[in-house]
Amino acid sequence: MKALILTGGLGTRLRPLTYSRPKHLLPVANVPHIEHVFDLLQRHGVDEVVLLTSFLAEAFEISVERAAQRGLTVAVAHEVEPLGTAGALKNAQELVGNETFLAFNGDVLTDVDLTGMVDWHRERGAEATIVLTPVDDPSAYGVVPTEPDGRVLGFIEKPPPGEAPTNLINAGVYVCEPKLLDRIPEGLVFSAERELWPAVVEDGTMYARGTDAYWMDIGTPANYLQANLDALAGRYVCSAVAHPDDGMALLAAGAEIHESARVSSSCLGSGSRVEADATVERAVLLSGASVGEGATVRDAVLGERVKIGPGVAIEATAIGDDEIVDEEK
Ligand code: GDD
Ligand code: MG
Repeated sequence: MKALILTGGLGTRLRPLTYSRPKHLLPVANVPHIEHVFDLLQRHGVDEVVLLTSFLAEAFEISVERAAQRGLTVAVAHEVEPLGTAGALKNAQELVGNETFLAFNGDVLTDVDLTGMVDWHRERGAEATIVLTPVDDPSAYGVVPTEPDGRVLGFIEKPPPGEAPTNLINAGVYVCEPKLLDRIPEGLVFSAERELWPAVVEDGTMYARGTDAYWMDIGTPANYLQANLDALAGRYVCSAVAHPDDGMALLAAGAEIHESARVSSSCLGSGSRVEADATVERAVLLSGASVGEGATVRDAVLGERVKIGPGVAIEATAIGDDEIVDEEK
């Protein structure tokens, strides 16, 4: 089976971290997020992936090479200008062929049982099947009311706060029949959430199945940080964390912590440094980031080569690559 992965968005909610890379390549537990998606797919026997790229597409090359080394075939369908979530699927139609396929929002980290989803989809003869997950605030997502047998009754993208009919939302993981792609116009910007799914719902051929598996959209700074903390705590299967413990510091090659520094619940990228008497709690340091002597970093993400000056305290923020912070943020 093939999986189409949507990786062409601009990642605006994760700026400044996404000025220089697609969000799908931000490290989670020191491994590019997209490689965790590859892990899940391979655990379910999916070994052919099509990346639907646009923004900063060339940055995916290293992950594509690494995927090939582990037996995953990765093709790329590139959009010169982003075609929207359905237009991107249409752009890969030639690569899909005649078989049932999976489609993914590429910013989703989950343990969902893909094998069980495909079985459920086939048992119902659905044209498309959506995974649903419960959230506290459905207004930031696609809200999906269903019949008891799973038939989808509506698809309401980002309803105003308080107006969602259910807290079950579109998890961004779909099982699809190839004929679904015939509904999408070629070469035009077309939205899955606002145009394609409502049309399939109207025809009564869309089904949905809830899951209580781990699920996180890494597309905001708070969610991205939480996905890292959840890996450390072992809240989902993560091959990068051999012995989960929620207070642990996960160090990539060449990361260094001075013996007098206090570092907990944090991921430290390659070559990052924490100097004497510094405190780092619930943080992600990308490659080459450093925290100066006596500085404090809490609930924060530091981009590549960021320098936090001696004695500076920062909290609840995301700092873009190469910034030097000498004053409190
Ligand atoms: N190739 C391509 N082209 N990819 C795109 C495009 C495009 O034009 N636009 C967005 N994407 C990619 C993004 O990069 C991301 O991986 C995925 O599609 C979803 O886009 P987001 O921008 O992250 O959407 P969202 O998080 O606001 O909402 C979506 O995801 C929710 C679950 O996390 C919707 O599908 C919601 O219905 C859903 O609940
Ligand atoms: Mg998203």
